Amino acid sequence: MLWDSFKNLLGWAFKNNIKMITSISKELYEVQIPNFTGEVKMLPFNLENLAEIPTQFKEMVSKMIEALPIKKGIAYLTVDGKLVEKGKTQRRGGVHIDGNYLPSLSWGNGGGNGWKVGEGGRILSSKEHKLSYENETGGMLIASTYPACKGWNGVFEGKPYVGGDCTRLKGLDEGFVLKPNTVYYGNSQWLHESLPIDKTTHRIVARITLPMDYPVLGAVGKGF
Ligand SMILES: [Fe+2]
Repeated sequence: MLWDSFKNLLGWAFKNNIKMITSISKELYEVQIPNFTGEVKMLPFNLENLAEIPTQFKEMVSKMIEALPIKKGIAYLTVDGKLVEKGKTQRRGGVHIDGNYLPSLSWGNGGGNGWKVGEGGRILSSKEHKLSYENETGGMLIASTYPACKGWNGVFEGKPYVGGDCTRLKGLDEGFVLKPNTVYYGNSQWLHESLPIDKTTHRIVARITLPMDYPVLGAVGKGF
């Protein structure tokens, strides 16, 4: 089982005091993303009843969370719809992990701990950094209307730097480009980056950030 080999490798790394990143993602299913211009940033909502989700996004959000075995707790919705010019990245470029959102560190308008519309995060204390970027739990669901995001799966030697920056990570392969209008699950250590878009396009990205204690999907018995 894939998860067992991850666990074995992590056990070995732990014994030898080597930092590893376990990047897990999975393509789930298609979703219809409603047309939208503007930005919803980290809107907290109840996974159980979606009460706080604006009507226009309800159908999309319920589809996105369909694969979750546990629909409880507070998750956060981000929707970003804008015209992206050819050669520009809509979201955060450079390989990184999003880590976990720590609501207690939120600064102001729901931007969270750098979470992110493109730029590196604020500097966290080492305890906060560990909670956010070196935790096994947490994760996200993400979809976009046009392919301009790359992801990697696997176990890699190295550690995330400020804001989840993983550009120094060695041994990354080609990765894969995420398909449009398709929901992907990623754990909180999922390596990804926004790519320069190949033609000027109105692109919409929808992301659901899961609670920081959300179990890793794909782990034994957790299913997708
Ligand atoms: Fe990201």
